[in-house]
Amino acid sequence: MEIAETIQSVRALVKAARDKGKKISLVPTMGALHSGHLFLIEAAKQQTDFVVVSIFVNPSQFGPGEDFENYPRDLKADADACQKVGVDVIFAPTVQEMYPRENLTWVNVRKLTEPLCGRFRPGHFRGVTTVCAKLFNIIMPNVAFFGQKDAQQAIVIKRMVADLNMPLEIVVCPTVREKNGLAVSSRNRYLTETEKKDSAVLYTALQKCKKMIGEGVADSRTLITEMCRTIEQVPSAKIDYVSIVDAETLQDVARTEGKILVALAVHIGKARLIDNILVDLKK
Ligand code: PAJ
Repeated sequence: MEIAETIQSVRALVKAARDKGKKISLVPTMGALHSGHLFLIEAAKQQTDFVVVSIFVNPSQFGPGEDFENYPRDLKADADACQKVGVDVIFAPTVQEMYPRENLTWVNVRKLTEPLCGRFRPGHFRGVTTVCAKLFNIIMPNVAFFGQKDAQQAIVIKRMVADLNMPLEIVVCPTVREKNGLAVSSRNRYLTETEKKDSAVLYTALQKCKKMIGEGVADSRTLITEMCRTIEQVPSAKIDYVSIVDAETLQDVARTEGKILVALAVHIGKARLIDNILVDLKK
């Protein structure tokens, strides 16, 4: 396994593989790799011949007062994990390498970035789409892998790729969870043991919602009220949003019909946690 820190060196490594006819995949990450990331890497290994994992804590997607400075960074542990699962190349550039001058060109996906996390993290998705566009241009993968855990991010990236005719496929993998249901996340490192237990409440609320829908409750207000009530049983929980939206447009739905996304963001301790489930009522 190679670790490339420059654009020039990663391009040379990928070109050599491409020239041999290999199908190239990219798994973009911010490092602090966990079982969720490893699931994406396994999927990439199964579906392609040459796996590149990018590890870059992208400053342009963090807002003022967010955790850019404190975001966990451990390239040594990440490299060990990647080596074990057979990653071909890690691309771990510096901020200077990715943003060598004032960045004047931004990719902005409208509408889909406005609701849910977009309301609470202005500029976040513009940073995500811009860095992913840069990574796609640097690596030129045939396929890139994203997680359903960041449902809005995956939808926004898919739309960017479609709107700008980017020549790659986007694969979205299911959310990997702890035993208690908590979605695995690099930010779970901010939680104490008690907070980790408390954080299971996000998934409990989502499961309760799914159950109520199954029992015929279709009114979004009723479902949202019940989810909020469940989450608020944890006194330290501070809800950003609990929403039921159309899974394609991300617009609020008054009644649960068709394919919907139940999504929430909750602060517990020092961590801002997000989670979601897709419910397909067409089935
Ligand atoms: P990061 O939070 O490191 O996540 C990298 C990828 O792993 C994302 O596609 C995310 O959805 C996926 N992922 C995280 N936790 C997961 C889990 N529990 N189950 C399944 N997949 C999971 O998302 C980012 O980085 C950045 O925004 C990035 C796309 C790299 C752009 O900077």
